[in-house]
Amino acid sequence: MTTAQGVAVADDQNSLKVGGPRGPVALEDFQLREKIFHFDHERIPERVVHARGYGARGYFENYKPLTDLTAADPFSEAGLKTPVFTRFSTVAGNKGSADLARDVRGFAVKFYTRAGNWDLVGNNIPVFFIQDAVKFPDLIHSAKPEPDRAFPQAQTAHDNFWDFMSLMPEATHMAMWIMSDRAIPRSFRFMEGFGVHTFRLVNAKGKSTFVKFHWKPKQGLQSVVWNEALKINGADPDFHRRDLWGAIEAGDESGDYPEWELGLQTFSEEDADRWIKEYGFDVLDATKLIPEELVPVKPVGKMVLNERVDNFFAETEQVAFCTQNVVPGIDFTNDPLLQGRNFSYLDTQTKRLGGPNFTHIPVNAPKCPFHHFQQDGHMAMHNPVGRANYEPNSWGPEHNPKENPETGYQSLPVEESGPKVRVRSETFADHYSQARQFYISQTPEEQTHIADAFTFELSKVQTPAIRKRMVSHLLNVDADLARTVGEQLRLEEMPAPADAAKPTRQDLKPSDALSIIKN
Ligand code: HEM
Repeated sequence: MTTAQGVAVADDQNSLKVGGPRGPVALEDFQLREKIFHFDHERIPERVVHARGYGARGYFENYKPLTDLTAADPFSEAGLKTPVFTRFSTVAGNKGSADLARDVRGFAVKFYTRAGNWDLVGNNIPVFFIQDAVKFPDLIHSAKPEPDRAFPQAQTAHDNFWDFMSLMPEATHMAMWIMSDRAIPRSFRFMEGFGVHTFRLVNAKGKSTFVKFHWKPKQGLQSVVWNEALKINGADPDFHRRDLWGAIEAGDESGDYPEWELGLQTFSEEDADRWIKEYGFDVLDATKLIPEELVPVKPVGKMVLNERVDNFFAETEQVAFCTQNVVPGIDFTNDPLLQGRNFSYLDTQTKRLGGPNFTHIPVNAPKCPFHHFQQDGHMAMHNPVGRANYEPNSWGPEHNPKENPETGYQSLPVEESGPKVRVRSETFADHYSQARQFYISQTPEEQTHIADAFTFELSKVQTPAIRKRMVSHLLNVDADLARTVGEQLRLEEMPAPADAAKPTRQDLKPSDALSIIKN
């Protein structure tokens, strides 16, 4: 045993005392001070969302080349294995909360490709609460413990959350999913994952195809029921992390590791434009999905998680996923939620991981060669070597990493036109149709679970007007569901359905907004 300075430790049991074993402790005891000092600084801020998570290493194996669709490295060759790090998480609870909370689960995968790191930062639900990133802080504030009382800690059942949900009609579709069995998965191994947003695949010729990413668990989809969730949370709040650890450990014996297939829904911009007219949903709106009946999910490869971490903090806590980490062959769309995420992750990680050098932490570093002139800052582990730290310079080829127009990242040259406006697109306005489709796609048992979940959650809401307002949205989803929930809540009278057509601020047309600006 040594100190952090490498000095051998003779006695790790006793501090240094003056005047004998009962004397005062000497300030000179550097061994004691170093040990306590380091312990005092062990905590870093937990993630502002998705604080509780569990990660594992593995690989993604591509089935066949997808070069007609994308130049992205992991899809370039049949059988190519790309190393991955995957972290599953809950959203609202803090780091020490219980695994079986009714919540969305994060499903984030970092692909260490030969062309740089690509992060697919998804959830286990294919849609999201809100359409525009500007509402994300409000959503999360409403879901986290209330600021004065600091409870409830890890579940969604409280006035603030349902107040927000009921004031945001666009959240209705997501409300159906989080009240369904999807929000209490049996284990991470039985969960689907979704990239949620529409992204672009871009091939070597610069042709772009829209894409939605799906993870399908090879083990199938399984959930627990609410009664079980409550008991498991009490008996073993680490149920999901224990399950993943155990499954990989068992795989070391049997060779049978947790697996998911990656599937793609690919479609053209013309398809997307047509669906706005035919079905009333916009692929840039993250509160909508693309029905699999319309575009089947094509499996393109599989992810196998076959290695447990060596150290939870070093890997699972310090891993930093970001939607803006893409590689050549993958590009963004104008989804306003995605655009906001592209800023948020890097920003929060700069604080959470103590400065701009968190890509130097092994779990975040690319596994391919990299060369740049970024330098200094807190905890810089690799700085430019020699005198050159700018480009262009005269110090020889070894000091001049070259740009490469052939293999370098090229943003797709998309044409944009029109006024700069702070308004919601009219094509995002249908908040109920897909919520209804989701509900009617469920089996009778699953529908009962949804009604019971709404009843349980809303019964914890103290303010009658909020309960009623939520039921008024359910009336636009399914009359039977709304009636069941209303009766189970013993509402004195059923509210009128929420006015689906009423223009709210976010439903203003660009022309309205321009006239407001002018006036
Ligand atoms: C963290 C997914 C929307 C901000 C995460 C994580 C996942 C995730 C999986 C955990 C990553 C990990 O395991 O370390 C999603 C999905 C979204 C969404 C699927 C919507 C489709 C947003 C939005 C914002 C946001 C709109 C902000 C504008 C954050 C932040 C973190 C986070 C700040 C913490 C990151 C960290 O500290 O490392 N999100 N999120 N997310 N998300 Fe999101």
